[in-house]
Amino acid sequence: MKQLFIAGNWKSNKTIAEATEWLQSFKALIGESALNGVKVVIAAPYTVLPVAKYHIGAMGLPIELAAQNISPFESGAYTGEISGSMLVELVSWVIIGHSERRKHFGETDEVLFKKVEKAKAAGLSVIYCVQDTEIAVPPNVDVIGYEPYFAIGTGKTDSPENAEKVIAAIKAKAKVKTVIYGGSVTPENVATFVSQPSIDGVLPGGASLVSETFVSLIRSALGSGSNT
Ligand code: PGA
Repeated sequence: MKQLFIAGNWKSNKTIAEATEWLQSFKALIGESALNGVKVVIAAPYTVLPVAKYHIGAMGLPIELAAQNISPFESGAYTGEISGSMLVELVSWVIIGHSERRKHFGETDEVLFKKVEKAKAAGLSVIYCVQDTEIAVPPNVDVIGYEPYFAIGTGKTDSPENAEKVIAAIKAKAKVKTVIYGGSVTPENVATFVSQPSIDGVLPGGASLVSETFVSLIRSALGSGSNT
């Protein structure tokens, strides 16, 4: 039985008020469902993490929180940075190596490897993003996200067949059990990905921003028979 892994990445979106509204609406949509067969992670901006953690606890939501970034340093004189020991009070996951961090913030393999080291030392689980089979994967990451550049936010996905081929190759090379696909995933196309034998879940960006769309994506993924 395949346990699905769905990580919604809100990116640089949502005020505290908007995040709160999203969580309340998510609760109303799923009702008492424990969402068996899927681990749901939400990668929220730093600014909403404390409030999101509070609401997830108070409402008993089956959601784990992720940060979208982490400092490559310990706590100290690094203005503007958030360290692993600060994050571990708020989240159990962190996304490292997203293509947007590489592209807009110049993050290199060297700095990304340091971030993974700090995350693991703090006790966080890591979703490490790669854009093809050639990108180096640091040791000890927990989940790999395959997110090809051309598919991020473009409405053009990789084909499920190619994503399957790439993910099977990543799994064989990196020896990581859980590898997910990211790039223009929607409620309409999610089943075509998670029904592939090597694809363990998805990393939706745009489709995670509206709670109705995100819940419908989770339901389509669960209904695809992938978890049976
Ligand atoms: P998107 O983002 O779903 O908006 O294309 C995916 C990602 O950032 O991996």
